[in-house]
Amino acid sequence: MIKVEGLTKRYARNVAVDNISFEVGKGQIVGFLGPNGAGKTTTMRVLTCFLPPTSGTAEVAGYDVVQQPMEVKKRIGYLPETPPLYPDMEVAEYVEFVGKLKGMPTGDLAAKVADACERCHITDVRKKLIAKLSKGYKQRVGLAAAIVHNPDVLVLDEPTAGLDPEQRRETLSLIRQLAGDHTVILSTHILPEVEQTCEQVIIISKGQLKAIDTMANLDRRLRGAEIIQVEVEARQGTLGRDTVQQRLEQVAGVQRVTFREAKGQRLAFDVEGTSGQNIQPDLARTVVAADWNLVELHAAGLGLEEIYLQLTGAGAPANQGGAQ
Ligand SMILES: Nc1ncnc2c1ncn2[C@@H]1O[C@H](COP(=O)(O)OP(=O)(O)OP(=O)(O)O)[C@@H](O)[C@H]1O
Ligand SMILES: [Mg+2]
Repeated sequence: MIKVEGLTKRYARNVAVDNISFEVGKGQIVGFLGPNGAGKTTTMRVLTCFLPPTSGTAEVAGYDVVQQPMEVKKRIGYLPETPPLYPDMEVAEYVEFVGKLKGMPTGDLAAKVADACERCHITDVRKKLIAKLSKGYKQRVGLAAAIVHNPDVLVLDEPTAGLDPEQRRETLSLIRQLAGDHTVILSTHILPEVEQTCEQVIIISKGQLKAIDTMANLDRRLRGAEIIQVEVEARQGTLGRDTVQQRLEQVAGVQRVTFREAKGQRLAFDVEGTSGQNIQPDLARTVVAADWNLVELHAAGLGLEEIYLQLTGAGAPANQGGAQ
């Protein structure tokens, strides 16, 4: 649905987007991540025909953003970082105005406007002046304007920035409802939002693509060896930390055991196994055979924050930073 190939955008001598390529399939919801100045907004502006690329191509629903911008605009809804609202228009009046600009037929325009307002939960303020709305409501009006023509693709630039937790939750649930019918690409700096909402993530840094993959694949790719978190409980006077650690180290397939913390009688360890080898059953047997209580045993994922920091941080290892 979205196909970007070798996209580069230069502002004077500054390269904002540097030769990035990615594809997003129909109905997917993709998180677009990167530090400030990474090139997210620039990429989105190219996809939505607001900026021409310096080189490379971008296609939306099979139409080229440079060759066929009218076709692209019909199929794309864009919520910019700051939605371009007219403060002295009423809410529904503005959404209708945007619908007309997008060339929607006038016959069912009123019904489509009402539907967009309903989906964005702004029906109760449809007669209010935009100037009198709170930031969260303004954001919803921007979203209603982005979806009024029922576009195939939605490009949302930090749709939840500045919203309170309740509004954020509502906006995200709305976005999740929209995915499926629509392909959604959304940027945000709030990583848990991406973990909860997106199937795929695209990570860029300094204009360069660092990764495009599912969360699970990124986790697997970056983690290398599997980490198992083990927590055991001492029976009175039975065990010292070193004894536990040594026994765990002797389990086949274990590469390293690191002590994490002591919580009263409980001891927590991170056990690094050999990639592709399931060491959990043997770890469990060892703990039980030694007559300790097994409190917890599970494989630990990296979490998006760690993945993100590895790929965008100063210490990002070069061999893991490559795009696929
Ligand atoms: N109109 C412009 N003229 C010159 N340089 C620009 C312009 N817009 C953006 N840039 C530069 O392009 C680079 C990418 O900016 P962009 O706004 O795409 O980043 P971003 O990933 O959206 O960042 P943020 O998370 O802060 O929104 C930055 O170095 C920025 O300074
Ligand atoms: Mg931006």
